[in-house]
Amino acid sequence: MRQAGRSAATILDKLCSLVKPGMSTLEIDLAGGDLMKEFGVKSACKGYRSGNRIFPSFTCLSVNQEVVHGIGVKNRILQSGDVISVDVCIRENGMIGDNCRTIPVGKVSPEISRLLKVTEESLYLGMRLALDKNRVGDVSHAVQKHIESAGFAVITNFVGHGVGRSLHEDPQIPNFGKAGTGPKLRRGMAICIEPMVNMKSPQIRMAKDGWTAIAVDEFPSAHFEHTLLVDEDLPEILTIPEGCGKTEEYFSSKISEFAA
Ligand code: MF3
Ligand code: CO
Repeated sequence: MRQAGRSAATILDKLCSLVKPGMSTLEIDLAGGDLMKEFGVKSACKGYRSGNRIFPSFTCLSVNQEVVHGIGVKNRILQSGDVISVDVCIRENGMIGDNCRTIPVGKVSPEISRLLKVTEESLYLGMRLALDKNRVGDVSHAVQKHIESAGFAVITNFVGHGVGRSLHEDPQIPNFGKAGTGPKLRRGMAICIEPMVNMKSPQIRMAKDGWTAIAVDEFPSAHFEHTLLVDEDLPEILTIPEGCGKTEEYFSSKISEFAA
């Protein structure tokens, strides 16, 4: 899981640094596929089955009002002022690493920057509670509280998840809920926490492609995700690239800016 997480995070970093106005989402996806090849890992998105539908691209790329599970396409050209969620989910030696981040393309408005910041903060505040003997609801509640107190809307149609040999394992990790409820977290469990946040309304609809979820309010949407390991003192974030220093330092540096 550590190895898969590190690869997923490094690929996400590299892919995000390539994103520029004028690129199509297909170009970005193919670059993601090339990186996976270079790292000797497989996409866990491409070929993913839901009913009789098969996910066609290497990564999920969701632009502006697209919430999650966007497909890389030739005619979707990024412009300055857009945001794009880059979701990299890979399999390495049989184990999954799954992470996502929404990034600005060129310069975005202050309100969009705030949406991205609040969503990432909610992820860190939730992760901080992914501790042995806590309950899933403790994580969910922390995420929801932060998003809603900022005036944004938590999406409830999609949730985080346990992760391991399969991409989606038990338990579900909702981004909403009551503290003290739900399954108990235990040391050594691997989970993905992934808040998905709309600006005004939590409602989403499905695009004609059968995959892309779209915000009905048509405002930009944000999605941040890490794969992590539940532990007793602090969780261990698995989706960090090599060279970030000790996990604990990485984690507490992120938290201290946000937690005030
Ligand atoms: N991070 C996404 C998730 O946990 C990855 C989805 S892969 C897809 O759902 F194939 F379903 F798009
Ligand atoms: Co996930």
